[in-house]
Amino acid sequence: MQRILFVCLGNICRSPTAEAVTRAKAPHLQLDSAGTAGYHVGDPPYGPMQQAARGRGYDLSPLRARQFTADDFDNFDVIIAMDAENADDIEALRPTHSPTPVVLFTDHIGQDGTAVPDPYYTRDFNGCLDLIEACADGLIAGLTR
Ligand code: 4NP
Repeated sequence: MQRILFVCLGNICRSPTAEAVTRAKAPHLQLDSAGTAGYHVGDPPYGPMQQAARGRGYDLSPLRARQFTADDFDNFDVIIAMDAENADDIEALRPTHSPTPVVLFTDHIGQDGTAVPDPYYTRDFNGCLDLIEACADGLIAGLTR
């Protein structure tokens, strides 16, 4: 069983969308998401993000934000960050000797060093969905290869 954790900053836009999109494409995977910051703990995904996702058939409404913790290194097989800042903030909490890989979501479409731009600031919710759908396809293809 692959346990995969998606992580962004607030856990109300990118990572819950990555979780829901990947779940729709690969229901057998064990998926969760979290934010490096605690601003939105307990909140549902951001309204405009939910609306754009619903337009493509993804229901984000049951999800609630939580903050990433060091325990997540033990509870998941891989941690997938939406951007390099998220990855740095995750690495800062890595327990000594934890081997759990932290990778960027965009690595799965062969775009090293790029990121999923934050639609909370860009307001490009559909562009965010386009990129997340492509990254989820790449991730799943990599798992089944
Ligand atoms: P996310 O977007 O990291 O994709 O969930 C954000 C949502 C809210 C905030 C930052 C990023 N915020 O600062 O409130």
